[in-house]
Amino acid sequence: MPELLHSAIFGLPAPRTGKVRDVYDLADSVLIVATDRISAFDAVMANGIPDKGCILTQMSSFWFGLLTDVCPNHVLSTDFETIQARCQKPQPELKGRSMLCKKAKTIPVECVARGYITGSLLKEYNRVGSDVHGLELPAGLIESSQLSEPIFTPATKAEEGHDENISFATMVDRLGRETAELLRSWTLELYSRASAHAASKGIILADTKFEFGETEDGIILIDEVLTPDSSRYWDGSQYEAGNSQPSFDKQFVRDYLETSGWDKNPPGPVLPADIVEKTRAKYIDAYRRIVGQEPDL
Ligand SMILES: Nc1ncnc2c1ncn2[C@@H]1O[C@H](COP(=O)(O)OP(=O)(O)OP(=O)(O)O)[C@@H](O)[C@H]1O
Ligand SMILES: [Mg+2]
Repeated sequence: MPELLHSAIFGLPAPRTGKVRDVYDLADSVLIVATDRISAFDAVMANGIPDKGCILTQMSSFWFGLLTDVCPNHVLSTDFETIQARCQKPQPELKGRSMLCKKAKTIPVECVARGYITGSLLKEYNRVGSDVHGLELPAGLIESSQLSEPIFTPATKAEEGHDENISFATMVDRLGRETAELLRSWTLELYSRASAHAASKGIILADTKFEFGETEDGIILIDEVLTPDSSRYWDGSQYEAGNSQPSFDKQFVRDYLETSGWDKNPPGPVLPADIVEKTRAKYIDAYRRIVGQEPDL
């Protein structure tokens, strides 16, 4: 199949579109379609990475299955026949990249677990010090240091889509203690189980973000889980604290963009064919290593 940049389902209103996924409201459920769009530096590139949406949907599906006993999740079906049956006309382009999910009301706090310090938290730690967001981190942490134990760092979506870290106390104020504590314990358990699996494959799961939603039957895990779009995966064999670690999936794209003359204002430029091909190979490699089989493309 050629790359799929935009989806459309006959007879349905236009989906809600994120940077990468298209979400269709099916009244009782949602159909989440992962396109081949790729974003870097918060902008979507002009072309995509063929099959990326399939690879990431299947990776997310693998993780939902592996972690199903930690907490309930939104997956109803990834079976294409079932999904096709919900459409009025044949939609073969959705195969392998779509997930039929229970509809939930998104809880407006992103649940992040970190085993290493980098990114936004490292910046704040360097500015504020050890008691950043009440975390009481040790002194002397450097870029990509491993933490003595994984920490929970909730965040909210700020105006322009950038996430803003908040303290656990603020999360309790917003959601109530019971919900905040449940989400924290699920998040840390999901992270611990997933990072142990990744480690057994030579991959470090540095951090990851989960979203939860409310349904009539209680709180469930929603969205995508443990894809390179929601997680930082590092190659265990190249890890070295003190430096920023190469991104497992987007390194070629980022390196290219740094030298391309693009001013990092959206939209992103067209990626050349060799960058697209190398990046596609990286996604397939990540899938093989994590899942232990070939993606169904
Ligand atoms: N089961 C579900 N029920 C209802 N909404 C869901 C469910 N699972 C995921 N969502 C929502 O669907 C959306 C997925 O869209 P997506 O992640 O592509 O876009 P986004 O989060 O708005 O933007 P970004 O591109 O920055 O991630 C999110 O808003 C997510 O909260
Ligand atoms: Mg999102």
